[in-house]
Amino acid sequence: KADLIHVFKGIPFTTRSSPELLKSLDNFDAREDDVLLVSYPKSGTHWLAGVITKLYNTQVTLTSPLEFGDISKLEELNKISSKRIIPTHLDYNMLPSNFMNKKCKMIYIIRNPKDTAVSMYHYYRDNPNLPTVDTWTAFFDLFLKGDVVCGSWFDHLLSWEEHKNDKNILFLFYEDMKKDLPKTVKDISVFLDLNIGDHEIQDICKKSSFSEMKRNTEKENSNPNHTVCALTSNRKLIFRKGTVGDWKNHFTPKQNVRFEEIFNEKMKLSKMAKGHFG
Ligand code: PPS
Repeated sequence: KADLIHVFKGIPFTTRSSPELLKSLDNFDAREDDVLLVSYPKSGTHWLAGVITKLYNTQVTLTSPLEFGDISKLEELNKISSKRIIPTHLDYNMLPSNFMNKKCKMIYIIRNPKDTAVSMYHYYRDNPNLPTVDTWTAFFDLFLKGDVVCGSWFDHLLSWEEHKNDKNILFLFYEDMKKDLPKTVKDISVFLDLNIGDHEIQDICKKSSFSEMKRNTEKENSNPNHTVCALTSNRKLIFRKGTVGDWKNHFTPKQNVRFEEIFNEKMKLSKMAKGHFG
């Protein structure tokens, strides 16, 4: 399965993101009203996508991920006539510059890297599009080295955090959504200039719970093939456990110490990471 991976600008991608597509992204025609939904893998992208699509009353299209597919992708996205919500796992430096030039709204979701690592480990085990990993210990080392799809968690967040004062970018945390989803939904609606009442917020939260989203995936009428992650088209692989702190069931005390050493070193200038997970 080694040939599933290719490296573009130093970052590992699967062959589901063709090198030609990645090369052509810089010609991407962004529109002022595009909304980008950005994350490192396994940070709660599908959850957030569910909330955002429910927030819009008007016709919007949740597209397939920006980096999924081949060269025909740009044309495919061009053909969409409605407002586009575009998911991506790209780090800031790889994003087509037109999104910045047009000051498109972007929402970046962050999750505790320990839980992200555990979630990604299970994804590696379950997802046939990803390389084989034998043990948690082996995956733990790969994650810390950034030798996984989409590269290093640390570098990804740092690339985005440099832009934390940009008015067109909203930063959200998975853990905050778990703690108080109505507040996050409200913050998103304000950021997107949507006028949403408390009653609607309650309704959106109800429909966006883990159990509800998982159940919907299993229902025949939901589209099982619409994911917002370029690494799979199978929604059944997305809804695993949906909790905070699952890392405690996987990390040994020694791994925890090592993780924190590397975290503290890499994130010493990151207010965002240290403020939440330091
Ligand atoms: S992907 O494939 O990289 O885009 O994955 P992503 O959607 O970013 O993250 C998947 C994890 O998010 C959990 N999830 C949720 N948690 C809480 N509530 C809801 N509604 C929800 N929906 C998805 C999902 O279970 C994955 O986390 P783990 O820890 O593996 O369960």
